[in-house]
Amino acid sequence: MTTYRVGFLGVGPRGLSQARAYMLHPRIEIAALCDVDPERLGAAAAEFGVERTYSDFRAMLDTEDLDIVNIPTRTDLHAPLTIGVLEHRAPKAVIVEKPMATSLTDADRMQELAEQNGTRLAIHHQMRTTPTFNVADRLISAGEIGPLTTIKIRGKGYYGGYDMLNIGTHMLNGTRRYAGNARSVLATCVTGGHPTTAADIVEGSYGFGLLAGEHISAIYEFDEGLTAFAEMHRRSQPDSGWVHVKIYGEDGAVCLYNSRELFIRRGRDEVVDDTPWEKYELADEDRYLHGHDYYDHAGGDLWMAEETVRVLDEDREHECSGLEGRAVMEMMDGAWISHFSRSRVDFPLERGEHPLRQELAKAGLPEPDPERGKLRYADWLPGELARIEAAVS
Ligand SMILES: NC(=O)c1ccc[n+]([C@@H]2O[C@H](COP(=O)([O-])OP(=O)(O)OC[C@H]3O[C@@H](n4cnc5c(N)ncnc54)[C@H](O)[C@@H]3O)[C@@H](O)[C@H]2O)c1
Repeated sequence: MTTYRVGFLGVGPRGLSQARAYMLHPRIEIAALCDVDPERLGAAAAEFGVERTYSDFRAMLDTEDLDIVNIPTRTDLHAPLTIGVLEHRAPKAVIVEKPMATSLTDADRMQELAEQNGTRLAIHHQMRTTPTFNVADRLISAGEIGPLTTIKIRGKGYYGGYDMLNIGTHMLNGTRRYAGNARSVLATCVTGGHPTTAADIVEGSYGFGLLAGEHISAIYEFDEGLTAFAEMHRRSQPDSGWVHVKIYGEDGAVCLYNSRELFIRRGRDEVVDDTPWEKYELADEDRYLHGHDYYDHAGGDLWMAEETVRVLDEDREHECSGLEGRAVMEMMDGAWISHFSRSRVDFPLERGEHPLRQELAKAGLPEPDPERGKLRYADWLPGELARIEAAVS
């Protein structure tokens, strides 16, 4: 059996999580690490016992015969680094963190280059590859909850625009697994208690790019005739316990709770909501992978690695392909376009400038302060709340 050689481009917190999962996979070898931060690089090399380290990814690509390149960097670096890798020496697969990019035109370029080079591009929406998502799919296909009616998704309770780009991207990607392609969206955004205006478009935290809306509510309509309701609302305390994908059928529902556990409700969604949710126990063959228990590794990175290995073995698209990642970006941009145009928006979207940049231009407003994009969320939020308070008082 082939062992696939992986190189990491970035060994920050996400790179470390992914690498720890790869270390558990019998068919993956972490061959080389690259980071521009020598301290991080040294610590990661010591942890994973990797001798071959680089500060320049092109040197890594030239020297190592890599099958897979992982790009777990800040979001605004996803596109330039993916494009850089694909233009320099394309490996068999590139796995880039979510959200895919900060603009649809960048996402298009990433996908186009991957296709030209025969590289399998995947976006690290690992939840979609986990046992809970797989078992939910099986229960639905077996008719356990009857014909599907609706899907409800919720983020973690971060600031709405950030919640959508950070957590909503996973959840929207999840809806696509069960409902297929979205054909339209109708959305509304609220900031500081009023409908979000162009003056509320801000630079998101930590490289997420432009965003808007303290609270975002969106209705997606799918090709299969299903509807999904998405709630990305800022809560006083963000919590993983808010996060879910709930899939309703005529005879019951399944809930991917906190994206880690699976619940089922057997019974109709009556006016009086009295049918209890039961935890669905995973069978051992679903729960264990290469001897590792899902509940000990419920972040899902090991299952994502397994999917990547199978993609290369079987020469097929990844469950979390670049095409899917790009479609998720359209679903997120579409919510903003719908809010600002006060209308339903059909997919695919027309290409052009980022929709929020277009709104700034229409309103004659300057670009928001890019310095804010360097802050992590915890340092970013207080400034944004102060801005909102000043704007409403
Ligand atoms: N999939 C998930 O569940 C999940 C969870 C959390 C975060 N994320 C995503 O992870 C990303 C952030 O990850 P992080 O917090 O580890 O970021 P980070 O910035 O802390 O780490 C990225 C590393 O990449 C390095 N780097 C940057 N440019 C480089 C270059 N040109 N060459 C080599 N190395 C380079 C940096 O020095 C840094 O060490 C975001 O996109 C976020 O959305 C995903």
